[in-house]
Amino acid sequence: MEGQADDLRARDSEGLLETVLALPDHLRDALWRIESARLRPVPDASAAIVCGMGGSAIGGDLAVAALGDLLTKPLLTVRGYELPSWAPAGAAVLCSSYSGDTEETLACYAAAEALGADRVVATTGGQLADSARADGVPVVGLPSGMPPRAAVGYMFCVATELAAIAEAAPAIHTEIDGAATHLEMRAEAVQARAAEIADLLGDAVPVFYGAGLTSPVAYRWKTQVNENGKLPAFSSPLPEASHNEIAGWEGSRQRLACVMLSDVDQHPREIRRFEATGELIEPHAAAVIRVDAEGVTRTARLLEMVMLGDLLSLHLAARHGVAPSPIQAIDALKAKLGSP
Ligand code: PA5
Repeated sequence: MEGQADDLRARDSEGLLETVLALPDHLRDALWRIESARLRPVPDASAAIVCGMGGSAIGGDLAVAALGDLLTKPLLTVRGYELPSWAPAGAAVLCSSYSGDTEETLACYAAAEALGADRVVATTGGQLADSARADGVPVVGLPSGMPPRAAVGYMFCVATELAAIAEAAPAIHTEIDGAATHLEMRAEAVQARAAEIADLLGDAVPVFYGAGLTSPVAYRWKTQVNENGKLPAFSSPLPEASHNEIAGWEGSRQRLACVMLSDVDQHPREIRRFEATGELIEPHAAAVIRVDAEGVTRTARLLEMVMLGDLLSLHLAARHGVAPSPIQAIDALKAKLGSP
C-alpha cells in the first residue's frame, strides 16, 4: 500500500492524494460551515436549483442521487448561462463556484435575481462572494487551496442543504456524518480497489456505466479521469445506453474498457441489464469490470464510490506520467474566452 501511495505522490506535488483521502474531514467541516451560515428556510419554494460548472456542479447531481425517494420537489442542476424558462419565481437557487469567478455561474446568479429567486452561494471568494455580500445573499464559505473538483464533499453537502431549506427533502446531516465514519473505516480497502481497477483498465479508454445512485458517479469518474488523468473517458447511464450505445461496442476492437457501477438499490431490471450488457460487450472490450458500491446508507455508498473514482483517476495520472492537479487545457480555454 505504501509503495503504491509513493507512486501516486511522485508527480502529485500539490498533494491531491491527501486531499482526496481527506473527504471525511471535508464532509464534517462542510456540515459545520453550513450550520454557521444559518441559511433561511424557503418552504414556499416549488423547486431547488443548483447552478455550477464542472467540479462545482456535480454536488447537485450527487445530492439528487443520495436523497433518492426522499425528494418531494424537483432538485435540478443547471450547467450553463441561463435558468430554464420554466424556473419558478420563488425557486431556491444555489450558485456554486469554487473560484467564484466562473462566468456561467455568475450569469445564473444574475438570472436568479431577475427571477426573484431565493439565492444561496457556495464559494471561496471571487466575484460571486463580492456580489453575494453586497446583495445580502447568504454565503457558505469554502476553504481555499484545492482544485475545485476536490471540494466535492463540500459541494455535495451544500446541495443537500439547499434541498432541506427548500423543504424538498429532510436534512441528512446524520447520514453524512455516518458516511464520513464509513469512509474512514473503508479508506484502505478503497485505495486497494482503486489500484486493482487501474490494473484491469491498463491502457484502454474507460467507459463508465451507472444507473440510479451510480449514474452521477459514472459521470464523476469520467470527469476525474479527464481532469486528473488528462485522458479520454466516457460515461453513460443505463438503461438508456443498453438501447443504443451497446451496438457501438462492436467497433471498439478491444480499445475501450467497460466499468459497470452497481448498487443494491438499483431496479432489479437494471441489475439484469448490467449483467446482460456486460456479457454482450465482453468479446469487443479490453475488459468488463464490475464495481459494487459498499455501505449501509445511500450516502455512504455514493461517497465511497466518489472516493474510489477519485483515487482511480490519480492512479491513471501516475501511470500516464502526468501531474493530476494542473488543468492547462481548461485554463487556456478560460484565458482564450477572457474568462477569469
Ligand atoms: O475541477 C475543475 O477545476 C473544474 O471542473 C471547475 O470546477 C470548473 O471549471 C468551474 O470552476 P469553479 O469550480 O471555480 O466554478
